[in-house]
Amino acid sequence: MMKPLLQVQKRTMALAGVLMLGYLVFHMLSNLSFFTESTFTSFYQWYNGGVIRWLVLLVIVASIFIHVKVAFRIRAVNAQARTIDYAKHDKFKIPAPFVTASIIFLLAFIIIHVIQSLLFDELNVYNELTSLFQSELMVLFYLAGLFVLTMHLQHSLANVLQTLGKTSVSCHSLVWIGTLALTGGFALIPLTIYFGMS
Ligand code: HEM
Repeated sequence: MMKPLLQVQKRTMALAGVLMLGYLVFHMLSNLSFFTESTFTSFYQWYNGGVIRWLVLLVIVASIFIHVKVAFRIRAVNAQARTIDYAKHDKFKIPAPFVTASIIFLLAFIIIHVIQSLLFDELNVYNELTSLFQSELMVLFYLAGLFVLTMHLQHSLANVLQTLGKTSVSCHSLVWIGTLALTGGFALIPLTIYFGMS
């Protein structure tokens, strides 16, 4: 039977995951207003004008911290409890060091992105993004971050569905469609700036 503390931690981790997913949908949709400069600028002037930005940042940083901490704990507990891997996973198993490296890259991406966004001129986020994505390196860095985020979301949401007993092909297709719509929506901005505005 699962220890009660671990059960509480897993629930907290799931809540943190839901908050982050909600934030990502909000962040992607608000960023899509980039395609109408005046709406984008008014949105970020409002968003940066009060306490909301700092509250959001606090909740997201706390959620990431909890999510990572519990994930490491679950990994350690699973490694102790299971000496033989699941048969299903053995066929296409991604090597553990590669998974660890991708999570570290995702965390580094988020930290660098948040630092960059904090250094932006709050009154002209539109110009800041436009000049950020003139750089090929930055476009590649953001696309790589979004690729790892896609893999991470797809894998974790598929696991959540499996826990809920939903293993049908249509459920898994929905996860792929939702994930690709989210990360594809983010990717539109660097791609449009680099290929269409430089
Ligand atoms: C190409 C993709 C992305 C673009 C263009 C973008 C753009 C931005 C902008 C313009 C800001 C805020 C600047 C301000 O308030 O003045 C911001 C902040 C932030 N972004 Fe992103 N973002 C992208 C992807 C992501 C991803 C994938 C994540 C998370 C995995 C993320 C997490 C955050 C966080 C935590 C903040 C700080 C809190 C906030 O201001 O909302 N962003 N981003």
